[in-house]
Amino acid sequence: MKDILSASFLKAFSKVTSNMYRLGWDERNGGNLSLLLEEEEVAPYLDLKDVKRRFFLGFDAQALAGKYFLVTGTQKYFKNVEGDEENNLGLFRISADGTEGELLWGYADGGRPTSELPAHLMSHIARRSVDPMNRVVMHTHPTNLLAMTYVHELETRQFTHTLWQMSTECIVVFPDGVEVLPWMLCGTNEIGEATAERMKKARVVVWSMHGIYGAGKTLDETFGLVETVEKAATVYMLTAGLKRVNTIQDEELKVLANYFGVEYRKGIID
Ligand code: 13P
Ligand code: ZN
Repeated sequence: MKDILSASFLKAFSKVTSNMYRLGWDERNGGNLSLLLEEEEVAPYLDLKDVKRRFFLGFDAQALAGKYFLVTGTQKYFKNVEGDEENNLGLFRISADGTEGELLWGYADGGRPTSELPAHLMSHIARRSVDPMNRVVMHTHPTNLLAMTYVHELETRQFTHTLWQMSTECIVVFPDGVEVLPWMLCGTNEIGEATAERMKKARVVVWSMHGIYGAGKTLDETFGLVETVEKAATVYMLTAGLKRVNTIQDEELKVLANYFGVEYRKGIID
């Protein structure tokens, strides 16, 4: 059996959490991350019959039965993940009936998965119904995006339009736009269901006055997606109180989308 700490997926996962912390997105225990793994990726590192603990999910995850997930622990600090993975992360399988997580590795100090597990797993289900290659769900508290939800209308179309205008790459990186949820109580099945519903329409869901959810095929792609949204929100916050003299025109956004061959969400610039 190979040492799981040498697994490339584990190293990449740790590195992403460090980068998220470095950028100031994940204060204290803020943020959580989940990566779907297939059995053949996990098998070289763990005895798949050796279930250390089971935990009740509290919602139906039947659509993910038999899938493996690497997930940050609740109340764990992103700044501590790299170098102490076994206490801060857990790797579990969704039971055959979709009601339990079967812990195979991690949460070594008795910890549990993130309190946002409903939003993560429900978002995995929703994104995979649109894109079967989706494997990552990232939740984080990027500073400027969070600030923007205090001063900008909390409406999906307007919010997307503003972000697209903030940097030339935006419409190319997130042509499906961002969905905006109103403030809701976090850590519940309700916010999980609302997030997953929006995830069917876009890979980014903004949690007003809280943070962001991003989804993607790889850790890099998902990190880049959230990073691009945060960059746009930063430009917005740097210019929000100033007289705006220039902007990217809607016709220019269309030229960009056509040039890069992306299908942008309809109803925002036309
Ligand atoms: P956890 O510590 O349970 O992952 O919660 C952090 C968070 O960001 C809640 O939204
Ligand atoms: Zn949060």
